[in-house]
Amino acid sequence: MSTPKRYTITAALPYTNGPIHIGHLAGVYVPADIYARYLKMQGKDVVFVCGSDEHGVPITIKAKKEGVSPQDVVDKYDGIIRKSFQDFGIAFDNYSRTSAKIHHETAAAFFEKLYKEGKFIEEVTQQLYDDEAKQFLADRFVIGTCPKCGNEESYGDQCEKCGTSHNATDLINPKSAITGNVPVLKETKHWFLPLDQYEPWLKEWILDSHKKDWKPNVYGQCKSWIDDGLRPRAVTRDLDWGIPVPVAGGEGKVLYVWFDAPIGYISATKEWAARENKDWEPYWKDQDTKLVHFIGKDNIVFHCIIFPSMLKAEGSYILPDNVPANEFLNLEGNKLSTSKNWAVWLHEYLEDFPGKEDVLRYVLTANAPETKDNDFTWKDFQQRNNSELVAILGNFINRVVVLTHKYYDAEVPQPGQLNETDENILAELRAYPAVIASSIEKYRFREAQAEMMNVARLGNKYLADEEPWKTIKTDEARTKTVMYVALQVAAALSSICQPFLPFTAKKLSTILNLKKNISWPQIASAEALLAPQHVIGKASLLFEKIEDDAIAKQLEKLENTKRMNQAEQKSVEEQKETATFEDFTKIDLRVGTIVSAEKMPKTKKLLVLKVDTGLDTRTIVSGIAEHFSPEEVVGKQVTVLVNLAPRKLRGTLSEGMILMTENAQGELVFVNPDEAQVSNGSTIA
Ligand code: 2FM
Ligand code: ZN
Repeated sequence: MSTPKRYTITAALPYTNGPIHIGHLAGVYVPADIYARYLKMQGKDVVFVCGSDEHGVPITIKAKKEGVSPQDVVDKYDGIIRKSFQDFGIAFDNYSRTSAKIHHETAAAFFEKLYKEGKFIEEVTQQLYDDEAKQFLADRFVIGTCPKCGNEESYGDQCEKCGTSHNATDLINPKSAITGNVPVLKETKHWFLPLDQYEPWLKEWILDSHKKDWKPNVYGQCKSWIDDGLRPRAVTRDLDWGIPVPVAGGEGKVLYVWFDAPIGYISATKEWAARENKDWEPYWKDQDTKLVHFIGKDNIVFHCIIFPSMLKAEGSYILPDNVPANEFLNLEGNKLSTSKNWAVWLHEYLEDFPGKEDVLRYVLTANAPETKDNDFTWKDFQQRNNSELVAILGNFINRVVVLTHKYYDAEVPQPGQLNETDENILAELRAYPAVIASSIEKYRFREAQAEMMNVARLGNKYLADEEPWKTIKTDEARTKTVMYVALQVAAALSSICQPFLPFTAKKLSTILNLKKNISWPQIASAEALLAPQHVIGKASLLFEKIEDDAIAKQLEKLENTKRMNQAEQKSVEEQKETATFEDFTKIDLRVGTIVSAEKMPKTKKLLVLKVDTGLDTRTIVSGIAEHFSPEEVVGKQVTVLVNLAPRKLRGTLSEGMILMTENAQGELVFVNPDEAQVSNGSTIA
């Protein structure tokens, strides 16, 4: 598109069934924020909207699980999410929620218009129904095998493995997620958006017009769905949580969450415009507006096929110019998961690392899953902070500021004649805004941020080569020139880093005592960014080193989660076949005390124990060496099966067995009577 008049930037509305984690941030919110901040810095007319996605089955499932109402769930998570975005510096112009009146009205009006214009198919069809729960099963209420990729855990509306969006009745072997029952088919009326009718138009709009400018992952997914053939999709549901279907016959039914949620972008814009006394319509209806949706890859079908078809059907809206969807971020090698608590939660990060918002922003952008899935590790987080933010950017700024205070009492010195090196440095500096802008405009935020860091590298290398700390003793005039040039680089950084590191940019502006923000065109021009005699502010560190113990704490948190999950996953073994009372009386269980223990030579698992059983002191070989050291077990009172047939283990005769079990963390623990309250030899029955 030729130069847009304005921009409407949207970031996927997060479901309010859990807090925000680093996967959401890296995939959607950090890149969207960089893009919106960049455009605003360039003086563009931008609205950046988001909000809580408060309808849909995930919310009702969470409410059921927690024994509260769906409203309680959305209120709780809307609060957490809203605050964490704000504290993290995601600068939405409006963060709305789909329970807002304006949204209910906007979504209902949208539906009504399509209904009146005959854009839906109204049809009574057979849908999956859970007879026991007395409920139709759609979306996440039903799980079955994906007809496209064979994933056995596909949801009714979308397979998370291959991304395909389908109808619940397409699932093979469907099962109710509520009761586990096999659903029956029951008739019900719904409204369908005939996606098949939009296929020729979608082919032209995506496959022909956006082949070059959409990311290959996005384009590829769209092509595959269109090539497979599109079918009508129901846009209403038999549920009681959502926006009521606003037409006759719609009683007791609500809009499908994926029908209402993207309209949430429009409602959020309306809400913002009303607050700002502006007209919302140009942001959604003027062809000169550039609409960009930031989303994760699981949302591609909805933003590239379904929502555009809805907009096209409605007729008065613009279409997205781009949908720069990201792939997924993993955590320490495993898929991020809200239900498994395998995540770094934003609100917890902000508590654990106060004042380090930009560190996380930096690391997530440096590792952004722009072209493929990527991994977040705490070691990498530490390393990028210590070796890049501290050692390169922080170090450069600190050296410039400290030396300016030391040599010139905080005043920018008057430069002498610039030599070729100085001119080259300034020429390089002036070229950066265009380079970074070009990467950002292509949605290559990693590349853009790496170039920002190269500006700090440029400054560091200049100082290292020119050594003002040495020339100050020999050539005062030259030192002034070098410090002047270095200060220009520092000033440029305060502006260049703004979209990526907004907190740092602010700090740096204070350190340099900037009266107003420096623009990118200013950096690109020959004008001085910091004039001689300008007095800079106090030195203060931009970044601090992150020590090993902070990282160890985070890794320990994840280890605990892993243990909890393993313990939960361990299914309770089925009861063995019935033992008669006679069988039971054959078992002789006694209380005993371990009196000595040593490792069985040349084995990893075995300890040779001497156990006082009250009857005798006997040898028992036990496979617990990987869990306990000999010293740990001596003196322990334990339950012993004393009449187990003796057997030789690695040449040592073992006469009995110590009873053990696993605790919730998956650790081996002794099954023992309340410690030392009973005497050895006591029978257990
Ligand atoms: O995947 C999700 O978290 C959805 N709630 C995204 C919705 S985006 C939009 F359409 F609102
Ligand atoms: Zn699939």
